Amino acid sequence: MYEIKCLNKISEVGTSRFDENYHCSESVENPDAVLVRSASMHDMELPKSLLAIARAGAGVNNIPLDKCSEQGIVVFNTPGANANAVKELVLAGLLLSSRKIVPAIEWAKTLKGKGDEVGKLVEKGKGAFVGPEIGGKTLGVVGLGAIGILVANAARSLGMEVYGYDPYLSVDAAWGLSRSIRHARTLDEIYASCDYITVHVPLTPDTKGMINKESIAKMKDGVRLLNFARGDLAVSSDVISALESGKAAAYVTDFPSDDMLGVDGVIAIPHLGASTPESEDNCARMAAGELMEYLQNGNIKNS
Ligand code: MLT
Repeated sequence: MYEIKCLNKISEVGTSRFDENYHCSESVENPDAVLVRSASMHDMELPKSLLAIARAGAGVNNIPLDKCSEQGIVVFNTPGANANAVKELVLAGLLLSSRKIVPAIEWAKTLKGKGDEVGKLVEKGKGAFVGPEIGGKTLGVVGLGAIGILVANAARSLGMEVYGYDPYLSVDAAWGLSRSIRHARTLDEIYASCDYITVHVPLTPDTKGMINKESIAKMKDGVRLLNFARGDLAVSSDVISALESGKAAAYVTDFPSDDMLGVDGVIAIPHLGASTPESEDNCARMAAGELMEYLQNGNIKNS
């Protein structure tokens, strides 16, 4: 019997893929493997029994990769399994960054109790909530992995002109995309050309803080930035200064941080990109499959 420790609440539909040779629970003490979603494992002692960690999601920055390498623990993730869910929220983010939907809904609630006056008050007040269309505007997609590609294609179908940048793009992916988006050769080309920029790259020493005062200075005035990848891709204080000066018109992030909350122009969503039942099931199913394949057959996939 293989013992699997679940660190987060992991979709049961997904983990039902484990057969009778597996026992999966939060309280396992000497696990053969760990199944984790977003919980940080950096301060955890990794038991000697541990052979593998499966991250039900794409980012692996919550896992101490160096320690795992030292101890010979294989780490898996589930690339693409939540891409559709994230894409849908990014599309919402694009619209939220443009149309003043959230403040307008909040304002509409204040009309409660005004009876027959509501219609007139709406006509009088709605002028405060004008925001531009995204159709016909340029979107820069930085990182053309599973999520970036879906976002690029969806934005095209909403009438945006899309620039993509990814120095690691596979030939197949580039071929598939080449007719629908413009491939930027440098990030500077994205910065100079795009009204909206969305980042879909992993957090690494190279990408950490890539949205900073130098990169923002190269962007178009009034740029709208979206970060559904990892909070630390942006230097908060530089984003706040850009919003305060008007250089940036909006920053939509799926990673709220204390300093950003309440700042005008910041739209902070509490890390909901992958929070759909479909995506939770997909990720758990893929992660469970990877673990079984490794523990029983020694095969490594997505590590
Ligand atoms: C990811 O890296 O795929 C997301 O952070 C998933 C999640 O929300 O758990």
